[in-house]
Amino acid sequence: MIHRPRRLRKNSIIRELTAEVRFHKDMLIYPYFIEKGENITSPISSMPGIHHFSPDTLVKDVEKGLKNGINKILLFGSGEEKTAEGKSAYQKDTVVAEAITLLKKNFKDDIYIITDVCLCAYTDHGHCGIIQDGHVHNDSSVEAIAKMALTHAEAGADMVAPSDMMDGRVGVIRDLLDDNHFEDTAIMSYSIKFASSYYGPFREAADSAPQFGDRKSYQMDYRNPNETLKEAWLDEEEGADILMVKPALAYLDIINRLRANTSLPIACYNVSGEYSMVKAAVEKGWIDERAVVMENMHAFVRAGAGLIITYHARDIVEKEW
Ligand code: PBG
Ligand code: ZN
Repeated sequence: MIHRPRRLRKNSIIRELTAEVRFHKDMLIYPYFIEKGENITSPISSMPGIHHFSPDTLVKDVEKGLKNGINKILLFGSGEEKTAEGKSAYQKDTVVAEAITLLKKNFKDDIYIITDVCLCAYTDHGHCGIIQDGHVHNDSSVEAIAKMALTHAEAGADMVAPSDMMDGRVGVIRDLLDDNHFEDTAIMSYSIKFASSYYGPFREAADSAPQFGDRKSYQMDYRNPNETLKEAWLDEEEGADILMVKPALAYLDIINRLRANTSLPIACYNVSGEYSMVKAAVEKGWIDERAVVMENMHAFVRAGAGLIITYHARDIVEKEW
């Protein structure tokens, strides 16, 4: 026999030497849920290990994470007043703005702050935009979303991440940021975000479930792999710095396809439902958490993602997986 692939699997040294892809903890971005108030650390029942923090407790938790190299975080706000138009999303004194200010005061540029930009946690109907004549109106939603991005930039966010899936929002955000001299604030666009049932636990955490209908008129149809390239191309044209695919595990083919079609960095979002399924199986004793989580991380890298947004990030670094 000439070909014996097992030669290069003989021991861990040769396996390390010939590994084709590598995962590194610098790829990780850790999401946080922030709530108005003080001294809050309340567990999210559907996402074991994940908590709501108030800005003060957030600072303490971020300090712990920083010691292990978790220096890129994605912030989600909740608990603001909900109205039809989601106005509290872009007030200057939102809990997100407060948290950014406090984090930057404490950690300066040792922490890289990304904020999720979307109206769904701020609208009483729970949709990601403003409703007109019974449906989500694109252009007025984009205006509000851009204002929200600006308030985050003003508070000191390094990067904004619009997750609403309205048409044209990246371009409008870019213009508004530039007009206000935030030309160095980056945009990571949730470019290819599918209407997915894997967001269930998150919607409980962010209290952002739609009160009627679904998100299918703005998020993508999972049957459309070709259309993903159009979404990505539009965001690139409008000035996105990083493109994101979301969810991640069920969409590895989409990450891979995008990798072949853009020169921009690609992020994937290992979403709440994907996280909670792993945690639930671990609780039942059915799978080895460390092994499964690291297998998933490598799947993202192999598919072509360079950035990984995941709730597993803290475990990976703290337990040195
Ligand atoms: C808000 C938003 C969602 C997620 C991130 N930003 C939920 C949704 O679109 O319904 C999902 C994150 C997760 O499930 O971990 N637009
Ligand atoms: Zn939303």
